[in-house]
Amino acid sequence: MTNLQIFLDIATETALAAGAVLQGYLGKVEDAITEKGRPGDLVTVADKASEEVILQALGRHFPNHAILTEESGKLGNQNNEFLWAIDPLDGTTNFAHQYPFFAVSIGLLINGVPQVGVIYDPFHDELFRAAQNMGATRNRSPIQVSDTSELSKSLLVTGFAYDRRETSDNNYAEFCHLTHLTQGVRRSGSASLDLAHVACGRLDGYWERGLSPWDIAAGIIIVREAGGKVTAYDRTPVKIESGRILATNGHLHDSLSQELLQVQSQGIGDR
Ligand code: IPD
Ligand code: CA
Ligand code: CA
Repeated sequence: MTNLQIFLDIATETALAAGAVLQGYLGKVEDAITEKGRPGDLVTVADKASEEVILQALGRHFPNHAILTEESGKLGNQNNEFLWAIDPLDGTTNFAHQYPFFAVSIGLLINGVPQVGVIYDPFHDELFRAAQNMGATRNRSPIQVSDTSELSKSLLVTGFAYDRRETSDNNYAEFCHLTHLTQGVRRSGSASLDLAHVACGRLDGYWERGLSPWDIAAGIIIVREAGGKVTAYDRTPVKIESGRILATNGHLHDSLSQELLQVQSQGIGDR
């Protein structure tokens, strides 16, 4: 078995265990929801319990690897070439409102490049996985991106970061612009599932700013292995720390990139 297969299998069993923890807390966290800083940026006992399960499992299997999680930050030897980027509950606002769209996201970067990704949606029992050059799957069956090649026929998804009240670079203008050009732009509240749904062809493209590595590390490799394309808005290589990402089925990549750059250059939205 290759190392990537071992990483993928351990990430999978870990995500399934963490997902079961989330599912157990669903509808039971009302008294234990707090705001982390910015309005609307919530954390619950479920985020922490899921993270604990993941940290214990990865720490046991890979004690020398670096770890970056949403709730605990940087752990382990940050100089190690292996970095696990983990969101124990992606879609916390949905979860807190019992809106069933949330996931566990576990990505492994090797020398800064996402190479293994597992995203588990426990409510729908959907498991999305991929490893470099090994393809992408949903519930262990191969998946691929859609073949939609015109924006006018596409269904897109995006999101709005927690700093949206503090900056004019809040993605509202881009959202309005693309809503006019497409069959629709969804806002699901879970970046990892947005990427997973692009990978399996339910959505044709996704863009967002203000993200963190744990939101997108797993999804990047899953979209790529499903035949899609992931870059920065301007089609240069994605920088995971920048928090800005454009992920599409490939066919729409150039046109969606051009529209995003056009909105940004025109300063639509009072920018
Ligand atoms: C958030 C979700 C949301 C995205 C936000 C993220 P959280 O993660 O992925 O879709 O728009 O930018 O922060 O807080 O639910 O883990
Ligand atoms: Ca997240
Ligand atoms: Ca989270």
